Amino acid sequence: MDLPRTVMTQLTPDLRICRLLNGLWQVSGAHGAIDRGAAIEDMFAYHDAGFTTWDLADHYGPAEDFIGEFRRRMAANRGVEALASIQAFTKWVPESGRMTRQIVEENIRVSLRRMGVDTLDLLQFHWWDYGDANYLEALRYLAELRDEGKIRHLALTNFDTEHLNIIVEQGIRIVSNQVQYSLIDRRPEVHMSPFCQAHDIQLLTYGTVGGGLLSEGYLGQPEPTRGVLTTASLRKYKQMVDAWGGWGLFQELLSALKHVADKHRVSIANIAVRYILDRPAVAGVIVGTRLGVAEHREDNTRSFDVTLDAGDHTQIEAILGKSRDLYQLIGDCGDEYRR
Ligand SMILES: NC(=O)c1ccc[n+]([C@@H]2O[C@H](COP(=O)([O-])OP(=O)(O)OC[C@H]3O[C@@H](n4cnc5c(N)ncnc54)[C@H](OP(=O)(O)O)[C@@H]3O)[C@@H](O)[C@H]2O)c1
Repeated sequence: MDLPRTVMTQLTPDLRICRLLNGLWQVSGAHGAIDRGAAIEDMFAYHDAGFTTWDLADHYGPAEDFIGEFRRRMAANRGVEALASIQAFTKWVPESGRMTRQIVEENIRVSLRRMGVDTLDLLQFHWWDYGDANYLEALRYLAELRDEGKIRHLALTNFDTEHLNIIVEQGIRIVSNQVQYSLIDRRPEVHMSPFCQAHDIQLLTYGTVGGGLLSEGYLGQPEPTRGVLTTASLRKYKQMVDAWGGWGLFQELLSALKHVADKHRVSIANIAVRYILDRPAVAGVIVGTRLGVAEHREDNTRSFDVTLDAGDHTQIEAILGKSRDLYQLIGDCGDEYRR
């Protein structure tokens, strides 16, 4: 299975990534048990299929250790040069409060050690409480660590446009913001995408396949109860569907997507991914991977084969136009995470 060349993009001039990133929240334990050995084997299968870019976080259970183990095995089996073909993006999600250089450096050191790297490719910073301005201190120290070579590029996750603007105005160079962005949640279109376009900042998106809800598996199905939704991801995005317009409207969306998908001989998930890949400022879509448990590599590859036309967009927009406005309801990107 070879991915077409359009699959890759320059996140920055010196960092080339696969536009479909493998998300590792799914190994955290909140989505079912993961077997370590099977998981690492599966990482090779993703990598060899062209899915070379990983999204993880300090708090996604063993995710950073998996990258460390994957890299060790890669170096042992294929030589250290092979390591250059892996991109691994982690996050730092600290509790709010005072930030010193020592606190910041110590946390980065832990990620470096766990992942077995000298430099983090991309460090995505999260902050819970905008009432506590220490996020700017943290970012200044992170920028120092970047300038010293411990971090290649500094990025954010779940920041809203107002605070991204404050950071940019402080002269702190940010290359990307990771946000929820899907056919259900189009809040980034209000302010975030235009801001990112104007400031050369890229978006990495999650929730784009709604934990799997945006697929044939839920088409024509009765509304699932919480007990049926077996992963944290499905439960999270079912709540989003409820806020957006409810199960009835979601079924209308799935039907419209199925129509479009059949025309292109691809899947509903492919259309959901393609739609977001085509949005302004979007560099990549992160799709969660339950390593060693379930995989959709071949299907997801087909997202790169589809070109949505005006008729497809008309059909999709006809349904989206009936939904509630999540920006009005929840706020800007990441506002659901503020404490
Ligand atoms: N920054 C943040 O706050 C944040 C929040 C959430 C997620 N994330 C990142 O985004 C990643 C994605 O997580 P997510 O929660 O948003 O989940 P998601 O990517 O929307 O959903 C992942 C699930 O979708 C299903 N799936 C994938 N491809 C499919 C296909 N072609 N057809 C049918 N089903 C398919 C799989 O379900 P099965 O495994 O059941 O088959 C998979 O586990 C995370 O791992 C993490 O890296 C970041």
